[in-house]
Amino acid sequence: GNTNKNSMLNYWTYFAKGIEYTLLITVVSVFFGFVLGVFFALMRLSHNKFLHWLAVAYIEFVRGTPLMVQVMFVYFGIGTLIQSLPALIAGIIAVSLNSTAYVAEVIRSGIESIPTGQTEAARSLGLSQKLTYRYVIIPQALKNIWPALGNEFITLIKESSIVSIIGVTDLIYQMQLVQSATYKGVVPIFIAMVIYFIMTFSLSKVLGYFEGRMKHA
Ligand code: ARG
Repeated sequence: GNTNKNSMLNYWTYFAKGIEYTLLITVVSVFFGFVLGVFFALMRLSHNKFLHWLAVAYIEFVRGTPLMVQVMFVYFGIGTLIQSLPALIAGIIAVSLNSTAYVAEVIRSGIESIPTGQTEAARSLGLSQKLTYRYVIIPQALKNIWPALGNEFITLIKESSIVSIIGVTDLIYQMQLVQSATYKGVVPIFIAMVIYFIMTFSLSKVLGYFEGRMKHA
């Protein structure tokens, strides 16, 4: 057995908890980012000037400010309105709202990449605008959007690390606990790095596999 108090093996539960929270924040935020991202993409493409402007303003503002500030703003801002907002909830809200802006652009460009001839052909065959979107535009756009959504998943695994600053017990926060407990500075950092890499690399392999299968479908 390992009796050395400072051995990293004694702290695997710390890292396990960190992995759990990092993946939780990522999965939930990718989900909300996608759902809200669809809405913002459609708003931006809308002919309604107000909706279009609202979407542009949101997307540009969120992409033009650091995620770090957004995390702090949600935690302390909403925290003053609602007493004792849990850091985990604040972190998920901030990362989701951030992802929404990036995903909205992914979806918008996916939709815009479909040649207008597709719409014209569908409309001249008598399809309504709704049905054209549903059966002609969206299925083709999804082929371009899907890989970019996979990239967003990978990005959020890494970028969600910033929620550690408000005390969410993600992988970076847990790494810092191990540093304090063991008086070791570098080894916990290296372990966290390797864990992040294992997560992103294996996910990219899985996504690449499905991407390959979609191409031949
Ligand atoms: N580090 C970037 C920032 O501070 C985070 C970007 C998040 N990107 C994303 N695709 N959700 O703005």
